[in-house]
Amino acid sequence: MSIDVVVLPVAGLGTRFLPATKAVPKEMLPIVDVPLVQLAVEEAARAGIREVVLVTSASKRAIEDHFDRSWELESLLAARGKQALLEQVRSVLPAGMTVTAVRQPQALGLGHAVLCARAAVGDRDFAVMLPDDLIDGPAPGCLAEMVALHAAHGVYSLAVEEVPRELTDRYGVVSLAGERISGVVEKPAPAVAPSTLAIVGRYVLPADIFDVLSRATPGAGNEIQLTDAIAALLADTDFRPHRFAGVRYDCGSKLGHLQANMAFALRDPELAAPLRHWLRDRLA
Ligand code: UTP
Repeated sequence: MSIDVVVLPVAGLGTRFLPATKAVPKEMLPIVDVPLVQLAVEEAARAGIREVVLVTSASKRAIEDHFDRSWELESLLAARGKQALLEQVRSVLPAGMTVTAVRQPQALGLGHAVLCARAAVGDRDFAVMLPDDLIDGPAPGCLAEMVALHAAHGVYSLAVEEVPRELTDRYGVVSLAGERISGVVEKPAPAVAPSTLAIVGRYVLPADIFDVLSRATPGAGNEIQLTDAIAALLADTDFRPHRFAGVRYDCGSKLGHLQANMAFALRDPELAAPLRHWLRDRLA
């Protein structure tokens, strides 16, 4: 069975981006003019996924509104003859896709957020994307490659990239046995990290993980960790590391978000030339 559903956990507090994220969800921060969560849904659409399950919280209503129709805005744009903008607004949700939302009542960790999507996903294998990890690479994209791996070989996968050893305590870190993932550990100190291969925000997971998550106890940072549940499955389940092409921006951090904005703006037909000009002046 191919992967047809993606879970987007968007209930985190976004403390690294305060005060911007006090009332605005981190996932609504724009890259030029497109919110991060929309870029994630577009990547999922390119992977052939048709169903999105948002795991939200009380302060994240703007995300659901973003994927809803806005009749008032649409009729205003139509009346003013703003056809191009109207098309953009109408295509925020790619054709054929549905979005539903479930609530995570308390931010108890990424593993707990994924567990909140259980009723919506049921007994299907599924994908998870963290919208603040923006992967800018060749089409169709990282998740499409992982979904294709599952369709062709029935294996599950975690997107990974090499990180400097001094940063391992910010990531889940994998160890390998041949082509398979043999261990994962959340936020290991650099001195004890089993490798420098870090998990970034794309996962293709078996439905069995919900059983493990339902029994999970808090791990690193006193949160229910997705990596701990993956670790419990590794002995019996074939998980592969997926080294994707392209650049990953950590848009939950200020620097990563700025870098992503620059990279996207520098290839925007309207912005590239004036921005390049301005940057040259500033850097001179
Ligand atoms: P982060 O580790 O980036 O945490 O979560 P955060 O709270 O969003 O941001 P900071 O670190 O405080 O700045 C990784 C992903 O997991 C989701 C987040 O929304 C983000 O997409 N998450 C995390 C939840 O949905 N619920 C949680 O309880 C924790």
